[in-house]
Amino acid sequence: MDLWQIIHDMTLEEKASLCSGENNWDTKAVESQAVPSIRMSDGPHGVRRQDNYQTRGEKPTTRPSVCFPVAAALGASFDRVLLNRVGTLLGEEALANDVQVLLGPGVNMKRSPLCGRNFEYYSEDPFLTGELAAAYIQGLQSQGVSACVKHFAANNQEYRRMSADSIVDERTLREIYLPAFEAAVRQGRAHSVMCSYNRLNGTYACENEWLLTDVLREEWGFNGVVVTDWGAMNDRCRALEAGLNIEMPSSNGVTDKNIVDAVRSGKLDEAMLDKRVYETLRWTEWCYSGRRTDTETPYDRHDLAARAIAGECAVLLKNEDGILPLADGQKIVFIGEYAESPRFQGGGSSHITCTKVTPALEASAEYADVEYVRMFTDEGRDDKTWDMAISAAEKADVAVVFAGLPTSYESEGFDRSHLNLPDYQEEAIEAIAAVQPNLVVVLHNGSPVTLRNIDKIKGLLEMYLAGQAVGGAAADILFGKVNPSGKLAETFPLRLEDNPTYPDYAKNKTEVRYSEGQYIGYRYYDSRNMDVLFPFGHGLSYTSFKLKNLRISAEKIKEDDSLTVSVDIKNTGVRAGKEVIQLYIGYDGEDHVGRPVRQLKGFEKVRLEPGEIKTVMFYLDKRSFAYYNTEISDWYAESGRYTIYIGTSSRDLPVKCSVELVAKPLPLKLDDTLTVGDILEFTDDREVLEKLSPMVSRFTGDFSGLDGKEHRQMFSHMLDGLPLHSVKSFSNTTDEDIEAVYEFLRRLNEQ
Ligand code: GLC
Repeated sequence: MDLWQIIHDMTLEEKASLCSGENNWDTKAVESQAVPSIRMSDGPHGVRRQDNYQTRGEKPTTRPSVCFPVAAALGASFDRVLLNRVGTLLGEEALANDVQVLLGPGVNMKRSPLCGRNFEYYSEDPFLTGELAAAYIQGLQSQGVSACVKHFAANNQEYRRMSADSIVDERTLREIYLPAFEAAVRQGRAHSVMCSYNRLNGTYACENEWLLTDVLREEWGFNGVVVTDWGAMNDRCRALEAGLNIEMPSSNGVTDKNIVDAVRSGKLDEAMLDKRVYETLRWTEWCYSGRRTDTETPYDRHDLAARAIAGECAVLLKNEDGILPLADGQKIVFIGEYAESPRFQGGGSSHITCTKVTPALEASAEYADVEYVRMFTDEGRDDKTWDMAISAAEKADVAVVFAGLPTSYESEGFDRSHLNLPDYQEEAIEAIAAVQPNLVVVLHNGSPVTLRNIDKIKGLLEMYLAGQAVGGAAADILFGKVNPSGKLAETFPLRLEDNPTYPDYAKNKTEVRYSEGQYIGYRYYDSRNMDVLFPFGHGLSYTSFKLKNLRISAEKIKEDDSLTVSVDIKNTGVRAGKEVIQLYIGYDGEDHVGRPVRQLKGFEKVRLEPGEIKTVMFYLDKRSFAYYNTEISDWYAESGRYTIYIGTSSRDLPVKCSVELVAKPLPLKLDDTLTVGDILEFTDDREVLEKLSPMVSRFTGDFSGLDGKEHRQMFSHMLDGLPLHSVKSFSNTTDEDIEAVYEFLRRLNEQ
């Protein structure tokens, strides 16, 4: 299809019509040019295909589909292959429901554990999120269904998300809030992006040219389509010029007309409209070419897959005395409504009508006769069964309490106000622990919780909101059929007050100041050497592993060299299992830019039989060592020594090595902040030193006598920070002398 010919043959009105949706889910068709409409649906962990939505006022219905684990659970898998499989399965379901675009994945960072939508996001770490999102996108798009990575960008709270202004410095954006989108676009090759509701540094995301054109399109090479979040449009023409293609859901023609009028009046260049329309037509063509209406979704196969996937995501947080897995013949009681009716997805646009739900109580029947007492529900205590539960626990060998966060505690549209479990659940745990020391708690929550009674809990299994098969997966793990292998993709802090966004998170009606910069999650807690409840990357197994034989391909590298690191891992236990080997990098040089003590730069998940040894390889490059330098508007790997830490949690890094990196020095910033120290660090050129020496003799003189040492120390530090222009105050230096030094340095900079 010659798209430019179609554009040439379209009227201005037809072109403008393509810049907004037909209705809640469909793009517009252009009959005269045989341009079809394509359909979008949420995502991101289940296909929420609606019917009866085409005309306003109708009551839409949602088709049933398989609910897979939410992103918070998937993030804990640390498994690219698994995410690719999830994307593929979702692509199959989208195709079977004639959906061409799935609105996901959501890759926003978990800046605070309070964000109501954290269940829909992967992690507090941009590298992990980007790797997993790219894999999901590749899987989904392999089925001919377009991903739509969201919400671009810096949408990290629900409170007043449609107007709040995220105020974020560029380095923090580049290092924390953009990389996952960058990976989704560059590695995942996402065909579409959804801009967020919020403003970013004063400009709505939908019309933020720096974001949608300079970064997304020009730097990252994105040539797909940007759609708004639903209702996120502000100024339609400014958005079009900034790089936004389609306003969703629909503007009832209003903003289409704005476009026509703006072109007619000369305010909007028609060539820009044609460019946006070309991107939209190309995307429509790709999506429509993948459309197949002859496929049926094998829901049963997908449900089984969802159960296996959930089993790969669950995180075994505690297992004192090896209380898990439960043993045959034990007298077991399940307590809490989630055992018979689990919470397995979040509230809001991602909430789907699932095909079936498998509670743990039902699934456990294949393993053991389990007693069940409700004791409490999402609404609170169940007085009829409260005492019964305590008595059953007392008589049992093991009590398993199913707890977690009710939907009223977290959802799209609002944020949490605390990190606690409901009081009645803590009271239940306390009451059970008082009569039964063999206590296991299974959690169903979309984001971290603090646990008042953590010391009374021997076994703690974090299932997150793991989709419709969560109960089956929980039973498979509790009874040992599945060996848990998930790792926390976010820190569980000891207290909300320990989080760097506390106390003003989601308080201000108009502004969100990211004053903690890049220090979110473990980047903060580790740099502050703070205790946490459970660290990023933590997760136990029913077997044990040992890392050894760390090898590195070079002791010294230049900034553009790649570096290979390998380590052997052995299963030292008696049953097969999977482990996630994590690689973190920390800078050991004199840090003048400020950076977290260490950051995740590699992870690999491997399966090992008992006694088996495997070698795991990591491939590092400049970006692995670099920070974003806003003065050169690029990533810069600074010279110096770096430590490479390898382990199975951000706080369990038993093997490490170091590497010396030699980088070309940054060009000197030849302005009035240039200090003598900067010059001495940048060059030892004899001519420069000869020019400088008389100017600074006051600071480098011979400090003999008793106080000489102190003076010498003080003056050498002062010299380091002495702006070149200040030497005039301490020596007979003329402006010409100083200009001569600047001129010389300009020539050195260019070399
Ligand atoms: C919602 C969400 C977005 C979703 C869209 C369509 O407001 O923010 O994630 O895809 O609208 O339901």
